[in-house]
Amino acid sequence: MKIVRARDYDDMSRKVANIISAQVILKPDCVLGLATGSTPIGAYRQLAGWNQKGDCDFSQVSTYNLDEYRGLSHDDPQSYHYFMKTNFFDHVNIDQANTHVPDGSNPDADAACKEYDRIVAAAGYPDLQLLGIGNNGHIGFNEPDDHFSKGTHCVNLTESTIQANSRLFDRIEDVPRQAYTMGVQTIMFAKMIVIAANGSAKAQAVHDMCYGPVTPQCPASILQLHDNVVVVADEAALALCPAE
Ligand code: F6R
Repeated sequence: MKIVRARDYDDMSRKVANIISAQVILKPDCVLGLATGSTPIGAYRQLAGWNQKGDCDFSQVSTYNLDEYRGLSHDDPQSYHYFMKTNFFDHVNIDQANTHVPDGSNPDADAACKEYDRIVAAAGYPDLQLLGIGNNGHIGFNEPDDHFSKGTHCVNLTESTIQANSRLFDRIEDVPRQAYTMGVQTIMFAKMIVIAANGSAKAQAVHDMCYGPVTPQCPASILQLHDNVVVVADEAALALCPAE
């Protein structure tokens, strides 16, 4: 794992955006795996700025997001479909037909997850997968468990995740209790993984991901076994890691 230290959120965001931009420049028709949440918003904003200046062309790029809440329609403002449109896709010259997010509006979990696995595999898996990390070490919505998951599946969100995500909802009762998420094995099929983290709430998870045992109790720890992972984190998120 390569650890890139950032001063703060803005510095982390620019570094992440630089890595994604380099990927798009090197392979204009690349496949990007994308994440939602607070962490990548700054990087998406930076990429949109460069795109509008003509510096980073998304016209041939295709994207596959990690996850989606179960039971929300695509235009629900709390859905990850909506998040990706409003935070990224609407601001760059990507062909929206080439953007993909698991179909949380399909109540048939099995069918929705199988179909997502089929299209991610048909695309050849991401050239670059962008991840955030949960306070409990989750990646995608792969929560701490007694085994690592494989393909896309339906998960029950943990109390810790419901609590963390409730900041984006009016009431905690409104946070969906289930989500469809890419599995850990699918995430590991990406050729390169960039995982971003900022803030002290992530410090323990970042430490356990990089230096703890590889265990499904900290799903991100599996990334130690991938040969092309870059951790981009700010000082607060790296506070428990040894200074390099
Ligand atoms: C989002 C996702 C999650 C988040 C994680 C961190 O698509 O897969 O794993 O990356 O929960 O969320 P934030 O960035 O909001 O702290």
